[in-house]
Amino acid sequence: MNILVTGANGQLGSEIKQLANFYKEANFVFKDLPELDICNYAELKNFVIENKVNTIINCAAYTAVDKAEVEKDIAQKVNYKGVQNLVDALKTVNGKLVHISTDYVFNGENFVPYKESDTVSPIGIYGETKRKGELAVLNSDIDGVVIRTSWLYSSYGNNFVKTMLKLGDEREELGVIFDQIGSPTYAKDLAQICITIILKSKNNTLSSNGNLYHYSNEGVASWYDFAKEIMILGDNDCKVKPIETKDYPTPAKRPHYSILNKSKIKIDFDIEIPFWKDSLKECIIKLKNK
Ligand SMILES: NC(=O)c1ccc[n+]([C@@H]2O[C@H](COP(=O)([O-])OP(=O)(O)OC[C@H]3O[C@@H](n4cnc5c(N)ncnc54)[C@H](OP(=O)(O)O)[C@@H]3O)[C@@H](O)[C@H]2O)c1
Repeated sequence: MNILVTGANGQLGSEIKQLANFYKEANFVFKDLPELDICNYAELKNFVIENKVNTIINCAAYTAVDKAEVEKDIAQKVNYKGVQNLVDALKTVNGKLVHISTDYVFNGENFVPYKESDTVSPIGIYGETKRKGELAVLNSDIDGVVIRTSWLYSSYGNNFVKTMLKLGDEREELGVIFDQIGSPTYAKDLAQICITIILKSKNNTLSSNGNLYHYSNEGVASWYDFAKEIMILGDNDCKVKPIETKDYPTPAKRPHYSILNKSKIKIDFDIEIPFWKDSLKECIIKLKNK
């Protein structure tokens, strides 16, 4: 099995790189910009054919949620056209795709966790372009799955955990939004499920039970709860104060509620998902030891 991981230097790609060492039954190849641009179809297709790639885990994405509001074309190019390119390239070799999407495809007006079958209605450009990317996979006839996740963090790249630890060192007090609720997700846990889906698929078919899944860590939090826990686990005595979304205006609107129902992925792949505080602890210990 030859697995190409695109966007390999991002948070998720870096975590997959670490885990790949434990799976000798598969041959992983890791690529990111500028070496392999998913928006360049000819280059991508040649790479897939020349390297006998039969599976792609797509970690490449335009993830700057606020910047996307003014860079719609670039966001659309990576999050939609790039994904369409992956689908088209895989068609030529009858290959498989694991693609990652986001809780931001929902508008946040639910009050019970979102199921895969719930109506999507993104409220920002990032979510809109990610939805188009989902459809490129879901409407194709390749063996592909889309995994929606939320509030991703890792010891790699830039994310909320690292930002809070840095601000916690610099300031005595910090205001953090308490009226947006979601589930923090350690990219290492998501990396594990990406590999599990490929290796545990029934009849060698990733999408044998469906092609859309939700995955986040267990439990729920507001950004305020998340920040408080980061300070506690990081031994940081910066005081975290709850503030409202209206007091922290951002260019992009974000859903107030984006909890994902994960029953389907847990049943289909027989997995237990770690509680967000346990995974956060693991990540912070890793960051401290870096
Ligand atoms: N981060 C979150 O909170 C979050 C939440 C929900 C879902 N997700 C989804 O989870 C997935 C992984 O996110 P992440 O946080 O690991 O993302 P990330 O850290 O931003 O990594 C994305 C990687 O893709 C690369 N990339 C951008 N354009 C590319 C292109 N045209 N061709 C090849 N590579 C390209 C980026 O390179 P550059 O850095 O050079 O641009 C970066 O290395 C994404 O699909 C994202 O939409 C993320």
